[in-house]
Amino acid sequence: MPVTVIVGTQWGDEGKGKITDLLARNLDMVVRYQGGNNAGHTVVIGENTFKLHLIPSGIFYKNVTCIIGNGVVIDPAVLIGEIETLKEQGYDCSNLRISSQAHVILPYHKLLDKAQEERREAGRIGTTCRGIGPCYVDKFNRRGIRIEDLYNERAFREKLEWNVAEKKFQVENFYKMKADLDVEKIFEEYLSYAHAIRKMVVDNSSALIDEAVRSKKRILLEGAQGTMLDVDLGTYPFVTSSNPVAGGACTGAGIGPKNIDEVLGVVKAYVTRVGGGPFPTEIAGEIGDLLREKGKEYGSTTGRPRRCGWFDGVVMRHASRVNGLTSLAITKIDVLDQLDKINICTAYEYEGKKLKDFPSDLAKLEKCTPVYEEYPGWKQSLVDARAYSDLPNNARKYLERLADIAGAKITLISTGAERGQIIKV
Ligand code: IMP
Repeated sequence: MPVTVIVGTQWGDEGKGKITDLLARNLDMVVRYQGGNNAGHTVVIGENTFKLHLIPSGIFYKNVTCIIGNGVVIDPAVLIGEIETLKEQGYDCSNLRISSQAHVILPYHKLLDKAQEERREAGRIGTTCRGIGPCYVDKFNRRGIRIEDLYNERAFREKLEWNVAEKKFQVENFYKMKADLDVEKIFEEYLSYAHAIRKMVVDNSSALIDEAVRSKKRILLEGAQGTMLDVDLGTYPFVTSSNPVAGGACTGAGIGPKNIDEVLGVVKAYVTRVGGGPFPTEIAGEIGDLLREKGKEYGSTTGRPRRCGWFDGVVMRHASRVNGLTSLAITKIDVLDQLDKINICTAYEYEGKKLKDFPSDLAKLEKCTPVYEEYPGWKQSLVDARAYSDLPNNARKYLERLADIAGAKITLISTGAERGQIIKV
């Protein structure tokens, strides 16, 4: 696996952090390619639980170069906080590199995120209000401020003045909210952040990655969120503002598609989502609550309870196709341990017809009902299983059906949050 992309196949929170951490011990480089601190990757090492929002999950291995790629949007205060927390725990972050081309989240992005969410007539997206969407808007509108701008005081001031004036006008006049934005204050604050991270910033991070590709290093390109939150291929508009899918790795890390050897899809054994938007296999009531409690399904960024549902094969097929998955890592299978019966959605029914492909029109999706296959539960704990042969027959049958729907082989099965709770198939 010289160059592998790791992607979430659902609405995020599939457990990518743990899988990346597991793979990282045999890697040379991990590159995060999109999103910002809306993401939360949880890594459990012994007694310690780490929640990473921006830093790639390979950071716990000193010999792994971790790059925050050009496709990421960075809130420097959050990044510095994360670095400091890691340092306090004994991880010095000397292996961290930050792309000079990554865009910077500024206070007005967060303000706009909040204002837009409060005023959104067509229903709330449920954003994390971290300023991610507005920052990407500025990027694509070509008025964004990149990390490299922070080291050119004149250019930074000019861009900042323009942006603050524009956003202040928008927030106060259109959203009728107070816009407490002071250019001088922001300028000084961000210069101090720039100073703090200076040693980690690299010009042209794609050249660094290319060098590693040419030297046949083992590289993991780490996506945040998941396929169904992709701005092009997810449940638009209930999505994030970037491309978590495998193709996003090419632009967000600056790597050509022919250099990618494998695409590993992380698949939770059931499905969750935070925020608004349709969710065909959502389970209301007792079983949904049980999955939420047992799976600790609360957002690692906002703490919001996640909506829980049965495994959705239509979503799986979609994710498999748009990412070109070559293998699967199944996570949280142990959460299903005590269930008598487990459902797998294999298709949707829409106006009397069976749909196997995910409908892109949300109005149509809202009218779809899931078609389920029922599987008997295994009614025993899987947390100590370490080999495929340790799994009870019913668990194997369930997993085989998931792989069959995905059309890809399972290579990893996670049976708990700890590093060691994993089956390599
Ligand atoms: P934003 O990315 O903060 O703008 O939020 C847009 C949508 O994506 C909302 O429904 C969020 O709850 C969701 N979202 C963003 N990041 C994550 C994540 O890391 N996991 C799960 N959902 C996310």
